[in-house]
Amino acid sequence: MIVLLLGDIIGNPGRKCIEKGLSILVEEEKADVIIANGENAAGGIGITPEISDYLLNLGIDVITSGNHIYKKKEIFDYLEKEPRLLKPANYPPDTPGNGVYIFSNKKTNSLEVAVFNLCGRVFIDNFDCPFRAADKIISFISQKTPIIILDFHAEVTSEKMAMGWYLDGRVSAVIGTHTHVQTADERVLPKGTAYISDVGMCGPRNSVIGVKKEIIVERFINMLPQRFNVADSDNWINGAVIDIDEKSGKANSIKRISKKIYD
Ligand SMILES: [Fe+2]
Repeated sequence: MIVLLLGDIIGNPGRKCIEKGLSILVEEEKADVIIANGENAAGGIGITPEISDYLLNLGIDVITSGNHIYKKKEIFDYLEKEPRLLKPANYPPDTPGNGVYIFSNKKTNSLEVAVFNLCGRVFIDNFDCPFRAADKIISFISQKTPIIILDFHAEVTSEKMAMGWYLDGRVSAVIGTHTHVQTADERVLPKGTAYISDVGMCGPRNSVIGVKKEIIVERFINMLPQRFNVADSDNWINGAVIDIDEKSGKANSIKRISKKIYD
C-alpha cells in the first residue's frame, strides 16, 4: 500500500497547490491513501468546514491537524460530524472531535487503515503526554489493523525522533509536521517504522514558514506585534510517500516529496 502524506497546507496558496498538483502526484506515485495536514489551510491559521470539505473533495482521505485546530470557532461542531478531520488525540478528552480515524475503501483494497494525530509538548502547549496517548491508542487500533500512520505535530526534532524510536515496530509510520521545513532524515527504522522529523509544507517557499517574509523579518528586528499575512510566491508541495507491507504493516520505504507547483 502506498501512502502519501502532505505537510501543512498554508492558506489559499497551499490549497491551490493541492488543487493544481495533487492528482498528478497521486498518479506519479500510485498513491492509494492520501493524508494531509490542514491546520493552517484557512488564511494560514486554523481550518473552516468549507475548506475541510473542499480538501476532502479534492481526494484527500484524512486531514490531520495540530495546535491550531480550534482557531476558527465554526470548526467545533464540524469536528463532531466529520470523522475525516482529526484533532490531536492528546487534547483534553472533552474537546470536540476525534484523534483517530480508521477506514477502508476501494483504494485500500478493503484493508483498514488507521490514522492518528498527536501534538508534541516541547515549545508548544500543555498537551497530555503524547507517548502515553500513543500507547493507549495503539493498544486498541492494533487489534483492528497493522497499517497505522501517526502525524506527530511537534516543534522540536528531539521529541519527534524520540516518538519514532518509541513506536518503532508498533506503527507503520511516524511522520512529523508543524515546522513547515522539510528535514532530510527520512528512513525506515530497524523494526519497520517509516520516519521523518518533518515533511514540510504545501505553500509559498518565498516566505518565512508560509508568512510574508518582510513581516517576519521586521518582527524579529523590532519585536512589535504584526498581522501575519500568507505569502504567495514560489509555491511547492512537500510530503512523503511511504510504501507499506499490507500484511505486516511494516514500511518497506519512505521517500521525500518536494515539488514546485506554480510561481
Ligand atoms: Fe502547528
